[in-house]
Amino acid sequence: MLILDASHIVKVYGEAGEASSTAALGGVSLSMNKGEFIAIMGPSGSGKTTFLNILSGIDQPTSGDVAISGQDLNKITGDQIALFRRKQLGFVFQDFNLLDSLTVKENIILPMILEKKSANEMEERVRNLAKLFEIESILNKYPYEVSGGQQQRTAVSRALVNKPNIIFADEPTGNLDSKSSAVIMECFEKIVYELATTVLIVTHDVFAASYCQKVIFIKDGLIHSSIVKKSNRKEFFNQIMDNLAILGGRTYDV
Ligand SMILES: Nc1ncnc2c1ncn2[C@@H]1O[C@H](COP(=O)(O)OP(=O)(O)O)[C@@H](O)[C@H]1O
Ligand SMILES: [Mg+2]
Repeated sequence: MLILDASHIVKVYGEAGEASSTAALGGVSLSMNKGEFIAIMGPSGSGKTTFLNILSGIDQPTSGDVAISGQDLNKITGDQIALFRRKQLGFVFQDFNLLDSLTVKENIILPMILEKKSANEMEERVRNLAKLFEIESILNKYPYEVSGGQQQRTAVSRALVNKPNIIFADEPTGNLDSKSSAVIMECFEKIVYELATTVLIVTHDVFAASYCQKVIFIKDGLIHSSIVKKSNRKEFFNQIMDNLAILGGRTYDV
């Protein structure tokens, strides 16, 4: 089942043709089926964040179409886009984006309150996600009382609470040490293999990317190449390293 279908996405910041304009994406296409797990990599400034923002309806393309679960994002008007994003999409960010004045449990529940779900349903959903991601013991703590890895697992739970069709994550391991990064990538594996939810991440972290089924390399606003995991993660890690060397450029955002 096709979950994401983006074709010929072009993005020009500023007025096309003017000296100050920037062509961030030059015609990029991407399709994802249900349960696919893909990473996008590429040098700083290659258009990764722009692409993710367009796929998730945060930003509009200059030209090209994006459809999620068969719904053309261009055809959704005004307030409906916020509603669509809350129901159909989940987001995970580098800096967790939790509300400090709410407990872990309240942070996870928040998107359900906006959807006016029943108290019983909210309780059950939080319990199940907290169990899956092993954060049951911290539900009543505040974000500043728990580790970065636990904060990111809270953010992952929040992203899933309304049962989205796809999760978008921009540098989800960017603020985590290597041990917490592994735990978070294992959470994404659970999202894909146990909850059958589609996941797209943007990352410069080769270790994180090696958990995915496929890596797409972007350079200068175009898809340069892509590789599919054939055997184990260690081998895929080496393959990603080789491809990044060919790609060149500075992969780390500063
Ligand atoms: N809001 C913006 N206005 C103008 N130019 C932008 C804007 N956002 C990004 N760009 C430019 O578009 C290009 C791609 O940026 P971005 O998508 O952030 O790349 P990446 O995430 O791969 O580092 C860069 O040249 C960047 O300077
Ligand atoms: Mg970026």
